[in-house]
Amino acid sequence: MKKQYLPVCLLSLMIVSCAPREPKLGKSSLKDVIAAMTLEEKAHLVIGTGMAGFTGDSAVIGETKALVPGAAGTTYPIERLGIPAVVLADGPAGLRINPKREGDSATYYCTHFPIGTLLASTWNQELVESVGKAIGNEVLEYGADVLLAPALNTHRNPLCGRNFEYYSEDPVVSGKIAAAYVNGVQSNGVGTSIKHFAVNNQETNRMANDARVSPRALREIYLKGFEIAVKESQPWTVMSSYNYLNGTYTSESKELLSTLLRDEWGFKGMVMTDWFGGKDAVAQMIAGNDMLQPGQDKQYEAIVKGVKEGKLDEAVLNRNVKRILEMILRTPRFKGYEFSNKPDLKAHAAITRQSATEGMVLLKNEKEALPFTSQVKNIALFGCTSYDFIAGGTGSGNVNRAYTVSLLDGLTRAGYQVNENLKSQYEQHIISENKRNEPKEKNQMSAFLPKPRPTEMVPSKALLKEMAVGSDVALITIGRTSGEFLDRTVADFNLTKEEFSLIQSITNEFHSAGKKVVVVLNIGGVIETSTWKNLPDAILCAWQAGQEGGNSVVDVLSGKVSPSGKLTMTFPVKFEDAASSKNFPTEGAMGDMDFMSPKKKTNKPLWDYTNYEEDIYVGYRYFDTFGKQVSYPFGYGLSYTSFSYENPRIKEDKDKYVITVTVKNTGKYSGKEVVQLYASAPDRVHANKPEKELKAFMKTKNLKPGESATVVLTVGTSELASFDEQSSSWIVTPGVYQFQIASSSRDIKMVLDANVASTSAKATDILKLKEPIDLLKR
Ligand code: BGC
Repeated sequence: MKKQYLPVCLLSLMIVSCAPREPKLGKSSLKDVIAAMTLEEKAHLVIGTGMAGFTGDSAVIGETKALVPGAAGTTYPIERLGIPAVVLADGPAGLRINPKREGDSATYYCTHFPIGTLLASTWNQELVESVGKAIGNEVLEYGADVLLAPALNTHRNPLCGRNFEYYSEDPVVSGKIAAAYVNGVQSNGVGTSIKHFAVNNQETNRMANDARVSPRALREIYLKGFEIAVKESQPWTVMSSYNYLNGTYTSESKELLSTLLRDEWGFKGMVMTDWFGGKDAVAQMIAGNDMLQPGQDKQYEAIVKGVKEGKLDEAVLNRNVKRILEMILRTPRFKGYEFSNKPDLKAHAAITRQSATEGMVLLKNEKEALPFTSQVKNIALFGCTSYDFIAGGTGSGNVNRAYTVSLLDGLTRAGYQVNENLKSQYEQHIISENKRNEPKEKNQMSAFLPKPRPTEMVPSKALLKEMAVGSDVALITIGRTSGEFLDRTVADFNLTKEEFSLIQSITNEFHSAGKKVVVVLNIGGVIETSTWKNLPDAILCAWQAGQEGGNSVVDVLSGKVSPSGKLTMTFPVKFEDAASSKNFPTEGAMGDMDFMSPKKKTNKPLWDYTNYEEDIYVGYRYFDTFGKQVSYPFGYGLSYTSFSYENPRIKEDKDKYVITVTVKNTGKYSGKEVVQLYASAPDRVHANKPEKELKAFMKTKNLKPGESATVVLTVGTSELASFDEQSSSWIVTPGVYQFQIASSSRDIKMVLDANVASTSAKATDILKLKEPIDLLKR
């Protein structure tokens, strides 16, 4: 027996060791893994696994149950090669997944952090990084791998429906805040996807609209923020946008995704499409758009066919596959991380509450209306939104949170008395308005679109009189909500007549009774303020402050925290004043999202275009260069305390300028100040450059009354360059530059001069306009 057994055993051992072993991801070289993949597997890997997760179903992908229900997408798993499916999930204000799962009594709520615009309004990179860290922890602990955020498109016009997700009209603010966010999220070992690359500044017809922009405006405004974010944080992935850019879909543009992003900027990660973005899968592959999400059969077929017919070089497909595999190798899922499904939601609630207070912008504060003194106990709370606070916007920027703290909740928790009679009138009014506004027919889209807001109730004169006598102060909230798929309308920018008369009649009654009126703006984007801002005593722009919003607002109203947010965009006097308004769709028409409601065809021609005629004159670059009046300027925001600026100094240090200034708290409250540094070029008038441009900013720590801090602002000489289209170079013209140390774009505290030498750096001559457009010049 023994004699016979041994040779059989040896033989079988030899067979096992001689059999070709399947390479395994992480154990074998990427070259070997890719070589072992069939064409079909490669074509699967470069597209996602389909729609299921996107629609929010407790998704089933093929035979497999969704890894994280409600996540936007997954990559294609290839078990034999050790390639797991990894999970991609939205979004900018926190992780978006389904809060409940079939047959499971546990809940999977995520923290709704403040919207992007509020985070940017903190001007505090350290704070944004800590928010990113908390968001990334939820990504990790709920088993996702890549967060589809941050979103940093430019606030080109106040009406863009997704401005709430975005940061600013200025690329330095957008880029620095995005980099801080990415660094925070990625410190958890999970990825991010900076989006939407690029020039996705409107929702109207977003999948078929050609943004026509000069190369100079692209380089200086629309791409600059992405460049900063890529260089300062190396996000794992970039998401291309839906729109065309100068005639080519961004997801099909090799110039954008390869020449610029990788060759010029040094991006090392992977590019994915926005969901269903672009048309030609082969062109997308060639452009360097490595992965198509969420993945459609026709894309798979086009890629396989493309290779077989020689339209798509398999080497190009291999390159894209490699980038996807490199991303997968970094993920917690690949590394076998055992997620808990139990992030510390309590700790994160504290982070969102505190971070939100720092991005609120005090627009007006007269007669020391704020903070409330200890005499303020009884509050007359007006405005439907006070009772039904808005945590954030809709669409993929929404977060499925467990609760939202309203202003009513925040006030009562802090011990204020809110008038009961008024409260019950509002509650009834809101119920009946919501009933009236119920959509006639519900479809998949309804969950994604902003719900109509209740029309404001204007209380009777008698009730107002009673309130003015019986309360210590009036608080009025004005609310706005918006989201993906739709731009806002001019009517949404302006106050409704009910809102206007609400503010007017309340201020009349309360002022006659010697009482003050405070307006809170619970908004996601800029609204009209010039016609009514003279009425109330104080205005606090609270933005949409996440799930703890009401608590955060009360922390500011009560003086627990001094407001220290500043505007990252201009509030114009009228909508028409923004230079881009001439070329911005104002009908609030739906985009090309027919796949969501196949029966509904739009009457409009699908293909359209927007000429960016205002060119580089976006936001304050326009208002300040052309001397236009504004309602509130870029960079503006009040504090309860006051600051002095002293001892400005400038030092040239090789290829950079280091500017220092001492900021002193000269008031009675503790507070933080945002110091801004603008530069004015010597040749700005004849060379058609903006009057000033933000180059650096810094927020002080919390300064006690009498305390000072030295603020250090650094500007690289190359950052003073403008883009010259003729030579396709970044050129610093020589001469005396003015460095303006400022508290807003219209409050320059001191100016330092520096004689700067000329430099020039060649860039590739790409992304050109197909036909000239009529560009604004100074
Ligand atoms: C949005 C993206 C989002 C994606 C996945 C798209 O509609 O534009 O921002 O990440 O959906 O949900």
